[in-house]
This record gives sequence, structure tokens and C-alpha cells, in this order.
Amino acid sequence: MLKPNLYGRNFLKLTDFSEKEINELIDFAQDLKNKKQAGIVHQYLAGQNVALLFEKPSTRTRCAFTVACVDLGAHPEYLGKNDIQFGKKESVRDTAIVLGRMFDGIQFRGFDQETVEALGEYAGVPVWNGLTNEFHPTQILADFLTIKENLGHLKGIQLVYVGDGRNNVATSLLIGGAKVGMDIRICSPKELFPDKEIVAQARIIAKETKAKVMVTADVDEAVEGADAIYTDVWVSMGEEDQFQQRIDLLLPYQVNQEMLEKTGNDNVLFLHCLPSFHDLETEVGRDVYEKFGLTAMEVTDDVFQSKNSVVFDEAENRLHTIKAVMAATNGK
Ligand code: CP
Ligand code: NVA
Repeated sequence: MLKPNLYGRNFLKLTDFSEKEINELIDFAQDLKNKKQAGIVHQYLAGQNVALLFEKPSTRTRCAFTVACVDLGAHPEYLGKNDIQFGKKESVRDTAIVLGRMFDGIQFRGFDQETVEALGEYAGVPVWNGLTNEFHPTQILADFLTIKENLGHLKGIQLVYVGDGRNNVATSLLIGGAKVGMDIRICSPKELFPDKEIVAQARIIAKETKAKVMVTADVDEAVEGADAIYTDVWVSMGEEDQFQQRIDLLLPYQVNQEMLEKTGNDNVLFLHCLPSFHDLETEVGRDVYEKFGLTAMEVTDDVFQSKNSVVFDEAENRLHTIKAVMAATNGK
């Protein structure tokens, strides 16, 4: 298929893209996945250099951008927060200009959405958001590709996000779900409802795309008839002092077998952006077990490992969708 023409555009949040553009990126990612599996060369970024700037840690996003660069013929350069002058001795604006003089594209993962927006304003080359406190837009492309692979389409799909409704993944799913015409539901305690402005934006988008938007604290109401249930960690990066409060609020929102049964759909998909606390195989998981007596947090291990779970397809799809974003915005 033809590469979507988003040449020179930044990829900072899903509100900046139309329904058509988002669908084209997902279809292009499927095409690139097929090409990779068939061993067909797809070097849209041949000879380019890409900066990968990280303030926060990452497995999937870092690896996806790195492998995507190499597959597309570009050189990736990892710049950790302690490796360069960024933020300590040099402003975001000056760093953006310098990186833009040397690199053909910049990925940023970090704290403030403002930072990635400023990089996008001053760099003069495409900037891609690899997660901020507010949004995680490349994640949603991978989630939607995974849903499309399994259910054949996105329009009208009932996708229920259960958990911390105000985090970066929840807000991006809300906007993304509205953009592609889903029946998108955010289910969380009232204290963790998404920002009112984001909900209002999603409702405006939904009018155009015929999406449905629901924000509720009621699990039974949210999950009945669901095609897919999605959750994320209860404590996001940078909020590590919040475990006690989040566990108190979110325990009734844990995704477990009982919740899957409430959907009435044997084949309901289970999605999670990962990493996930579903067992005691991590330091944090064991620490939470010692302090709070929980063997899992946002999802139980049986659901995580069940036939309904597509979490590792989702993780792989980060590669193909990130590749689509880079090729569409910077490819020849
Ligand atoms: N889903 C995701 O963004 O994972 P990483 O934090 O490992 O990049
Ligand atoms: N909400 C999580 C997503 C991790 C991919 C975080 O920000 O830590």
C-alpha cells in the first residue's frame, strides 16, 4: 500500500490527527508488518539519523524505535537523561535546535507534554512522543492494530479501559477511541476520572465519528457486552509515592476472571500496554506483596496468561506502528 503522506508532521498527540490519518497509519503498520515477515526491504529512512531522548525508562518504546530505525535504514542514537546537557545546562529550545541541525527526527519520552510540544516547535524535524505524563499516542496505534487483527475492524468496537482513568494511556485511548468511532468506556473511581477537558474533547470528536463515550465508576455497567478490556498499572512512572492510595481506590477495579465473566463474552480480548504487575516476579511486585499482601495488582495472573490475553501481540505491534509513524512523517 501507499505510504500515508504526513511528511514533516510531528506525532505528539492523537487530537492532531484525523480519523482517516489514524486509520491509514494502522493499515500502513499492518503492511510493514507483512513486509517484515516476508523479508521485503522497506528502507524509507535510508541514510537518516534519529535521536532517541529518554527522561524515563523504557523497554518496548526504546526497543521499538531502535529496531524500527534499523529496519527503515536509519541510525538510532539513544540519549539518556544523564548523557546530555538537556534540562540541566541547556534549555529545551536550544537542545531542540541543536538536535534538529544534526538529526532527521527526534523521539522524546519524559514528564511534561509541554516539553515534547516545545521540541516539536523548535527542532525543525519531526518529533515523536514516546510517552509523557499526559499522553502515550504511539501505544494506542499498537493497541488498535492488535484489536483490528483480532476483530477485523475498529468502528463500533466496545473497548473498556478499567483502572487509573486519568493516566497517559487512559486519556490517549479516550481520544483515540473517539477518533476511530469506537464505543469507548473509561471505568475508574471518581477520584481518578479523566480530566474534564479531555472528556469534553472526546465528546466533540465522537459527534463527528459516531463514537460513543462513557466515563463511569460502575464496573458492571461498563463491561457488559465488552469486546475488549484494557488496563494499565495503578501507579505510573513518577508517582511511586502513591501505592497506598491507589491500591485503596483501585482494588475493586482489578481485572480478574470474575470481571471477564461479567462481560458475557467468552472471547473478550484482554489488553495491557505493559509492563504489568500480575505476579511476584518483579522487585516492585514483591515489595507490594510484603507491604499490602497482594499477589497481583491491576490484573490477576490467570487473566494475564489466559487465551483472551493479546498483550504480547500488542507489545510486538509497537514496532510496526512506530515504524509506520516514522516512515509516514519522514520517509522518502
Ligand atoms: N508500553 C510501553 O510504553 O512500555 P515501555 O515503558 O517498556 O516502553
Ligand atoms: N501509565 C504508565 C504507562 C507505561 C507504559 C506509566 O506512565 O508509567
